[in-house]
Amino acid sequence: MKETRGFPFFILKNGTCGNFYFTMNNTKPPDFKTQFAEEIFKGLTSYPKKISSKFFYDERGDELFQQIMELPEYYLTGKEYQILLRHREEIGDAFASMEGFDLIELGAGDGKKTKVLLRHFEEKNFDYKYLPVDISKNVLEQLSASLQQEIPAVEVEPQQGTYGEVLSRLADYRDRKKIILFLGSNIGNLTPQEAVVFLRKISSSMDEKDLFFMGVDQKKEPRVILDAYNDSAGVTEAFNKNLLVRMNRELDADFEPDTFMHWPLYNPETGVAKSYLVSTKEQTVQINSLDLEVHFQKWETIHTEVSQKYDDTSIAWLAEEAGLEITGSWTDKESCFKNYLFKRTGS
Ligand code: AVJ
Repeated sequence: MKETRGFPFFILKNGTCGNFYFTMNNTKPPDFKTQFAEEIFKGLTSYPKKISSKFFYDERGDELFQQIMELPEYYLTGKEYQILLRHREEIGDAFASMEGFDLIELGAGDGKKTKVLLRHFEEKNFDYKYLPVDISKNVLEQLSASLQQEIPAVEVEPQQGTYGEVLSRLADYRDRKKIILFLGSNIGNLTPQEAVVFLRKISSSMDEKDLFFMGVDQKKEPRVILDAYNDSAGVTEAFNKNLLVRMNRELDADFEPDTFMHWPLYNPETGVAKSYLVSTKEQTVQINSLDLEVHFQKWETIHTEVSQKYDDTSIAWLAEEAGLEITGSWTDKESCFKNYLFKRTGS
């Protein structure tokens, strides 16, 4: 199957020029073996081309993200770690309740930041259970093992699945107070519109007594944000290009990563940081297992990531749209990063 054109000759009724293949062809799309295959097909036959950032995280991508968190330019992890460390007492007081609580963490990762809280909760003898949620069984196993080592007293119940699956499963989990953690500014990978939809799901899975605790990267000096996605060691570049490597391996494609540039940008007006892969030459790439030929004009882009930055005003808007109410927040001296605590509106 060949992609017929490389440029939109039309604008869709809704004003976008999207979903090229599906609007231009009457043929039925092929059956896809995996969600990755399906989304790559759709994204690379759309105009402009795009790939969801959730596909960064294969085994190599997980490794590269670990390295990113250690980079001097990537301030997010360190800042949030400091906030949790410095304010653990107050955060703990806000979490604690007579009947104890279940701590549900969405996208737990290596748990490095969460462990600051867990250690404090152990010290305080809180009655709670920790339920880390992750798509990756591997991540959950490593996390459980390291917790067993470092904080053996904590009761861990790993939950494998997508956030959506786990949230609907846990919506019936109403015997005691639930506290949902969503750290690391992962909310930034959604557009504000998508974030509203996501946060509505969170708030509708919450009871009146439940809490939601979220870490959000803040608008700041534009240079600092841009540098965080454009590190001098080139780790973020490798992370972005790993998508091409992954397509080569999993979809039998023949991308040449060296013919694409990593191009991050930050818009201080909207607070959106975006990353692209830019084709430095005109080329045609074969994606054999999709039976697809993808043409790139010279300087054509693939949009690969959104990392939305917020401030108090935009977070208040988001909360209101989603049926949440801010009940507390903690930040660092420069308001670089901020952790917000929410309850459901009307409770
Ligand atoms: C894991 C989504 C918070 O957007 O800052 C880091 C991912 N991408 N460098 C972010 C990421 C490039 C990160 N989040």
